Amino acid sequence: MDRFVVRGGRALSGAIPVGGAKNAALPIMAAALLSPATSRARGVPKLNDVETMVRLLEILGARVSRGEHEVVIDASSVNSVTAPYDLVRTMRASFYVLGPLLARFGRARVSLPGGCAWGPRPVDLHIEAMKALGARVSIEHGDVIAEAERLRGAEIVFRIPSVGATGNAMMAACLAQGTTVIENAAREPEMPALAAYLNGMGAKIEGAGTSRILIEGVASLGGGDDAIIPDRIEAGTFLVAGAITRGRVEAVGADPSHLGALMSLLREAGATVETTLRGVAVSMDRRPHAVDVATAVYPGFPTDLQAQIMALLAVSEGTGTVTETIYYDRFTHVPELQRLGADIRLEGNAASVRGVPSLFGARVMSTDIRASAGLILAALVAEGSTAISRIYHIDRGYEAIEEKLRGAGADIRRERET
Ligand code: EPU
Repeated sequence: MDRFVVRGGRALSGAIPVGGAKNAALPIMAAALLSPATSRARGVPKLNDVETMVRLLEILGARVSRGEHEVVIDASSVNSVTAPYDLVRTMRASFYVLGPLLARFGRARVSLPGGCAWGPRPVDLHIEAMKALGARVSIEHGDVIAEAERLRGAEIVFRIPSVGATGNAMMAACLAQGTTVIENAAREPEMPALAAYLNGMGAKIEGAGTSRILIEGVASLGGGDDAIIPDRIEAGTFLVAGAITRGRVEAVGADPSHLGALMSLLREAGATVETTLRGVAVSMDRRPHAVDVATAVYPGFPTDLQAQIMALLAVSEGTGTVTETIYYDRFTHVPELQRLGADIRLEGNAASVRGVPSLFGARVMSTDIRASAGLILAALVAEGSTAISRIYHIDRGYEAIEEKLRGAGADIRRERET
C-alpha cells in the first residue's frame, strides 16, 4: 500500500490540468452495453474506478481496449448478465449496468452493493424505476434480479433526485417500448452528459439537466463516441487548494458553469475567483473568513466537495457550519482533521468548525475518495509533515493528484507504506 507524505506551508501557484469526470465516465461506459456495436469514450481519466468498470464489462463478455485517455468497448460479445459481488462491493457505480443489461437482454443479475464507510446508500430507487418500466424484480442471495421481455415506457417519479437512479432509468428507458417521463430527475451535469452520449447512440432523450426528462424508446442503438466532460469535483479540489494555501491556482479545463456554488462560497470566504480563457482561477492572500455551507443536489453545493471545504474552514477566521444533507453520516474525515489540530464539533448532520491559526502535521488515514482529498488539502497548510495512509481511496477518483499538485509547487510525494 502507498501513502502520501506532505510537507505543508507552501503557497500553490500555477496551472493544474483537470481531467475527465469519473462520475460521467462510469455511466457512459455502462451505456456501451446497450448496443452490440463498438462504443468509444475520449478523455477518460486513468482511475482505479475506471479500471473496475473495465473489469466488470470484461466479466460480462465485452472486449475493452484502452488508449492513454480513451476506452473502446465492443459489446457484441457480451454473454453474461451477472455483475458479481466482489466487484460491485468495491464500487457502487457498478450498479449502472443494471438498466442497460435489462433493457438489451431482458435480464440482469446485479449484486446489492452493500453499505459504505459513511452509511447505508440504498438502491431502492433504481429498483422502483425498473419496476415502473415493467420489470419483475426480486432479491435472491444478495443479488438483484430483474427480468422483462421488453420494457415499457412509464412515468417514473423519484422521491429523491438520485443521480444513479436517474442514470439507470434513462439508460433502461432508451430501449423501452413507448415514452418514459422521469420526474424529479437528478440535474447534476453528469446526467445531460450521459443523455448526450446516449443520443449519439441513437436514443431520443430530451430535458436532461432539468428535473423532467422525456425518453422516447427506440428498437435498437448503435455505438457511441464522445468526450467526457471535465471533472467538476477534481477542479473544485484544486481551487480549494489554491485558496487554503493562500496562493493562486488555475484549474485548466474546468467548466465554470458547473462550479457556481463553490465559486460563490470561495468569494464569500474572501478569495478572488475568476473565469479565465482556459478554466477557472482562484487567488487568496489572507486567512479565509468562516462561511456556512449546506450540501444540496445540483446546482447546490456538492457533497463531494464537503470534506475539502471543511479543511478550508479549519484554518479560517471565525466559526462556520457544514451541514450535510445528502449523506447524513459522511464525516469520516472529521476525526482525521482533528488529528491535524482542527477544532470541529459534530452534532447530527452538522459540523461546527472553529478556525485555528495553524494545523500541525500528523499521521492520518484516508477513508474515502473525497475525505482523502480534504486531508491532502489540510496537510498542504499544516506545519510540518503529514503522512496520509490508505491512499488507494484517492486513486479511485483522482488521477495522479500528487503530480498535479506538485506542478503548482506542493511538496507531496508518494511512498510505499512500511
Ligand atoms: N438514495 C436512496 N435510494 C436510492 C438511491 C439513492 O435513498 O436508490 C439516496 C442516497 O442514500 C442519498 C441520495 O439518495 O442520500 C443521493 O444519492 P445518489 O443516488 O444521487 O448518489 P449516487 O448516484 O449513488 C453519485 C456519485 C457520488 C455523489 C452522489 C451525490 C457517482 C458514481 N457517484 O452517487 O459520488 O456523492 O452522486 O452527488 O456518480 C464520489 O465521487 O466520491 C461519490 C461518492
